[in-house]
Amino acid sequence: MRVIRIFDTTLRDGEQSPGASMNVEEKIQIARQLVKLGVDIIEAGFPIASPGDFDAVKRIANEVPGAVIAGLARAREEDIKRAWEAIRDAPKRRIHTFHSTSDIHLKYQFKVSREEALKRSIEMVKYARSLVDDVEFSPMDATRTDIPYLIEVVEAVIRAGASTVNIPDTVGYTSPEEFGRLIKAIKEKIGEKAVISVHCHNDLGLSVANSLAAIQNGAGQVECTINGIGERAGNCSMEEVVMNLVTRKDFYKAKTNIRTKEIIRTSRLLTRITGMQVQPNKAIVGANAFAHESGIHQDGLLKEKMTYEIIKPSDIGLKETELVLGKHSGRHAFKTRIKELGYELTSEEIETAFDKFKRLADQKKDIFDEDIEALVSEGVGRIPAVYSLVDLSITSGMSVRPTAALKLKVKDKIIDSVEHGDGPVDAVYRAIVAVTKTKSRLLKFEVKSITGGTDALGEVLVSLEEGSRKARGQGADTDIIVAAAKAYVNALNKLAARKR
Ligand code: KIV
Ligand code: ZN
Repeated sequence: MRVIRIFDTTLRDGEQSPGASMNVEEKIQIARQLVKLGVDIIEAGFPIASPGDFDAVKRIANEVPGAVIAGLARAREEDIKRAWEAIRDAPKRRIHTFHSTSDIHLKYQFKVSREEALKRSIEMVKYARSLVDDVEFSPMDATRTDIPYLIEVVEAVIRAGASTVNIPDTVGYTSPEEFGRLIKAIKEKIGEKAVISVHCHNDLGLSVANSLAAIQNGAGQVECTINGIGERAGNCSMEEVVMNLVTRKDFYKAKTNIRTKEIIRTSRLLTRITGMQVQPNKAIVGANAFAHESGIHQDGLLKEKMTYEIIKPSDIGLKETELVLGKHSGRHAFKTRIKELGYELTSEEIETAFDKFKRLADQKKDIFDEDIEALVSEGVGRIPAVYSLVDLSITSGMSVRPTAALKLKVKDKIIDSVEHGDGPVDAVYRAIVAVTKTKSRLLKFEVKSITGGTDALGEVLVSLEEGSRKARGQGADTDIIVAAAKAYVNALNKLAARKR
């Protein structure tokens, strides 16, 4: 069976989603999980875009073995050089360079002729090949490019040394039949001389369908992102394209190297890190993707799962919520479970997480995997703590003015403050601002319960803005107001780290 390469661009195109920016440590955590998931290529970033992007690509190249690490570069010498500097230490590395080819882009944005675009693309592929063996070229806005010209560019960059040619539907404009025909025409011209990749955006909701049509017509690589995040309406969703190939292998006769049991964990890790929630009815990873509400469906399922279930939840790593640990579980069991859940923590981080777990076990009888993930991911990103929450007590109710008494450690000093507010969260946030003397503004506040029951661990996600900087924070606790305080402090620590 044909193997389709999965090129994951969550850390590059995905990160271009409004609100999805990640810090370097967060990107490394995602990259490690992508390797566990089995992706073939990780596009780790766009090194020339910023020093932060460069660092992230370089650290992933140095610290995350197991997949090809790609760096994106415009068809310019300085971009390609920067991408090369970022990826050079990776055991397997690729430069992905691109130039627009549609008349719309060439005329209005770049003001260059077709001939100039072709010449530059050839020169820059040659330059990239002088640095690295594995070069990918993308004619940007390919689906709005004159087809004979597109084919001319594709053939020329292959002659110049590109081993993968990516056909991007940059603005999500094409449709499955049309895109299938385009890929077929390219395949007929280039045969096995290079791998055809596709990169589809979801503006018309067709990115997965277009990618599948391309696979049917000869594409050997799909560019996609976890949860389909990405520029505007997003990119082709990795879990959807992969599970289509798995579920309908009889039809597509193609497979990938993805370990599907890691899908849900990867999706949740990304959600926690970016704060971008998955819509409940999203295919494969949405909260309702396996929930059967109708009586007729439930009746059928009880008789035979196949009646209404085309994918086993366990195939993507979902299991019945299991009781994993309790009050009497020891450090060893806790450590083992964390490892099984896919987290790699330092001994110091394990100790912190274990303390939190013990405190939680005193408050909550049953502790589930999701609880542990929420506790552990509070530490994801390894931000040095300028501020830490020492104590908090709240008075609130129908006939009292909400008041928060807060103790916060700022560097090595403990400072306290008592503030009133419109509600308990407002009072806490006023107290935090008073103690930290920060000028942050709350942009977003989300609360969710991790598992069921009134003793459930509550998780709060906040987004803050201070000047031009933005940061997300996460906090979990059985007391939702404490979780809200932790989330705010976590975001302030990230802002402080960025300031430094
Ligand atoms: O959408 C696009 O065209 C891109 C290219 C850089 C491949 O992201
Ligand atoms: Zn894109």
